[in-house]
Amino acid sequence: MTDTIHAGTVAHLRGDPFAGENTLEIIERGALAIDPSGRVALLGERDAVLDAFPESELVDHGDAWLIPGLIDAHLHFPQFYATAGFGNGLLDWLENTVYPAEARFADESFARAAAEQFIERLLTCGTTTAMVFGSQFYDANLALFEAAERSGIRLIAGMTLMDRNAPPMLLQTAEQSVDSIEKLIGLCRHAPRLHYAVTPRFALSCSPELLELCGSLLRSHPESYLQTHINETREEIAAVRTAFPQRRDYLDVYDSFGLITERTVLAHSIYTTEPEMDRMAETDCTVCHCPTSNSYLGSGLFPLRRHLRRGIRVAVGTDIGAGTQFSVWRELSETYKVQQLQDFCLNADQLLYLATLGGAKALGLESEAGNFEPGKSADFFVLDYEEDQYLAARLSRCENAVEQLFSLLQLADERHIASTYVHGHMAASRNGS
Ligand code: GUN
Ligand code: ZN
Repeated sequence: MTDTIHAGTVAHLRGDPFAGENTLEIIERGALAIDPSGRVALLGERDAVLDAFPESELVDHGDAWLIPGLIDAHLHFPQFYATAGFGNGLLDWLENTVYPAEARFADESFARAAAEQFIERLLTCGTTTAMVFGSQFYDANLALFEAAERSGIRLIAGMTLMDRNAPPMLLQTAEQSVDSIEKLIGLCRHAPRLHYAVTPRFALSCSPELLELCGSLLRSHPESYLQTHINETREEIAAVRTAFPQRRDYLDVYDSFGLITERTVLAHSIYTTEPEMDRMAETDCTVCHCPTSNSYLGSGLFPLRRHLRRGIRVAVGTDIGAGTQFSVWRELSETYKVQQLQDFCLNADQLLYLATLGGAKALGLESEAGNFEPGKSADFFVLDYEEDQYLAARLSRCENAVEQLFSLLQLADERHIASTYVHGHMAASRNGS
């Protein structure tokens, strides 16, 4: 088997632009050599890469951009059909839109069809790594993991756990859920791109017994992640205070059960207090910002700068279905706007970082994903806007490639993604080939 060379404008980050490092690399006549095992062999000027691998097969993407696969660090599989549902704030929306939609996933054939479409949609949007809240139903989660494995996407997911404050068919006690979770963890052990995440929905859905189970699962399976929600709305925070009056704050509810570690991903974190941030930094957990969701539900403005100043790792997520679209790329434009509203002006490097190398670091995957360093898995997508006359004209007015990247971050979307590759293989293409 030979190496494959993909030629185009290659863009990625070599380091953290929030740390003041100038690490954006854009190679306009660039190329990426991929070895037969699906890993990056070389990145450089097109001619140099072609010279280094004279026997290789060339895939010429013309002027299209090759960008590391996007990392969606927070979304919900059983909300695949719940996007754009009405809700007057988080708790009302959960009760009236989300829980009925999630109950449909009890039907295995319904869930199987949804799983295929869900994974396909992610890949079409350039997402090659996704951290996903699974269903409350074992068969639906199995369908999700199986669809992911077939496609090659990197999936971190787990069964959504709830044992109170929702319709009875969505509830399971700790005792009832443990076998299903163990089976799914076993499945992930044999699939290099599948990872299990222990997934208590949020403090309001979970009794102390259920949170206790989550802690014991993490202790017995230290390779697992933990994902949950935190400090999303004021109404939710007040309810958590009532439900757990003995705890210092929202974070402490999870922390007291051993759930806050460097493998924990907390979605939203809008109203996080100073002591909570201190503890987040100390435990080195990750926070996931979901701007579209936060605007849609009227939750609030995520204080990115405060998190970054503490050294808290931050990723970006679509939060389907409170988020209304599947594109992490579009979430970056929303991130930009939400930070503008707080006098924090992000540049192209910083935006791209959040969804690529920063996302990979946030999920502890930086040795495998996030940029085109040799040895990493060749996960990328091809952004081709030539057929969009307006976008092509707009970009032709840019002074340089960095300006072009910034405009692409604001104006491009999944319709401009020609194809997505996972581990060197094409997993989705606009033409369906
Ligand atoms: N908090 C608890 N469950 C959910 C959910 O499904 N979506 C969002 N956005 N927040 C939550
Ligand atoms: Zn969510």
